[in-house]
Amino acid sequence: MKVLVIGSGGREHALVWKLRQSPSVAQLYCAPGNAGIAGLATIVQLKATDIDGLLKFALDEKIDLTVVGPEQPLTEGLTDRFEARGLKVFGPSMEAARLEGSKIFAKDFMSRHGIPTANFRTFTSAARYDAERYINEIPAPIVIKADGLAAGKGVTVCETKDRAFEVLHSLMERKDLGESCASVVVEECLAGEEASVFVLTDGREYCVLPPAQDHKRILDNDMGKNTGGMGAYAPAGIITAGLLATIERTIIRPTLSGMEREGHPFRGCLYVGLMITQTGPKVIEYNCRFGDPETQVVLPLLEGDLALVFQEVASRKLRTQVSVADRTAACVVMASGGYPGKYESGKPIMGLGAASKEKNVIVFHAGTKTARDTVVTSGGRVLGVTAIAGGSDLAGAISRAYRAVGEITFDGAYYRSDIGKKGLRSARQEEKTG
Ligand code: AMP
Ligand code: GLY
Repeated sequence: MKVLVIGSGGREHALVWKLRQSPSVAQLYCAPGNAGIAGLATIVQLKATDIDGLLKFALDEKIDLTVVGPEQPLTEGLTDRFEARGLKVFGPSMEAARLEGSKIFAKDFMSRHGIPTANFRTFTSAARYDAERYINEIPAPIVIKADGLAAGKGVTVCETKDRAFEVLHSLMERKDLGESCASVVVEECLAGEEASVFVLTDGREYCVLPPAQDHKRILDNDMGKNTGGMGAYAPAGIITAGLLATIERTIIRPTLSGMEREGHPFRGCLYVGLMITQTGPKVIEYNCRFGDPETQVVLPLLEGDLALVFQEVASRKLRTQVSVADRTAACVVMASGGYPGKYESGKPIMGLGAASKEKNVIVFHAGTKTARDTVVTSGGRVLGVTAIAGGSDLAGAISRAYRAVGEITFDGAYYRSDIGKKGLRSARQEEKTG
């Protein structure tokens, strides 16, 4: 089949890398891709948000399956537009994508279906004083979430009430993130460890991929600002088989059946962002797509023809169960100096060839492009250096990934030095208690 992948980050490089291995894929395209993806797929010079252009391309080229990486085209109705023209898409409808596109919808949905999540209240932009009154009533820390998509800037964990008032002012009064973010969720701050679970689903049948753990903060020991994600590893040992069964029973099944009963079955990859609290797993957020960088460590663990699974999902008849290899993967993100704030681009990247030659290492490109035959930086997150080890050898995967990182240089390169450490700690605890 002819497959089109939409997006340009590390997640899309990992998707293209995996789909390239599918015997059922004859031709692979990516719009707009990056310098790494260009080696594996035909680049289509169309932005991920150019739904008209992408639709025309897919019709002209008779694309059999379109796989959507980022959330924005999904919340803007790409799937509905493509399906109306008879095209198959791996990714939810606009209505189903509201699980990510509107935090208020997601929280109200969880309330309606008894899905465990942080206690909360929602406030429209007109109800600022009610929001302030609620903040006065509840203890700090307090989490404030802008309703609409905000490219990772919509959530603030406020240590003090003063900070919470400031954030309310910015969102509701100054509308710093725009009109769709002027309504907010105010919620209790959960304590525990986070994990990400991806569910491939046709709306009813589903399969759960190995859980992963992201590293959201810019600095070691989870300090500093929130980022898109600075590294990941999978499987995440904190999610034991027993815990995963609980997550399926209390979260995944009620989410899928709730969406179906409400008339908007979710098809594609449902990303469940979890906090593992003292009182059990709770949903922090849903995303309507694969996570980045988690995808870079989850896909290398999968066996078999993923394109067929995606096609079954898009055709509403998922039958194949994905099989998972006995492997562990770790991914260290190399970012531009200054990220997640201001950073410079266009820095030549050295050592890519040497790093990629390392056994069991895959260098996924996130923000790169080719300029005069040289690969240069073109984004905040530049590379996802991923390594694989056998069995549950997380330590081996981590040291291999860092060895490859050591081969790569570019001006201002920054990476965390503690990716996967939490996973090593939980493995040691398990050994002690188990
Ligand atoms: P998001 O931008 O939705 O990915 O959320 C960013 C991060 O905010 C999450 O990964 C969590 O670390 C944190 N967060 C969101 N909601 C809560 C909560 N209720 N309690 C504690 N941390 C939270
Ligand atoms: N890794 C977090 C996300 O993809 O939203």
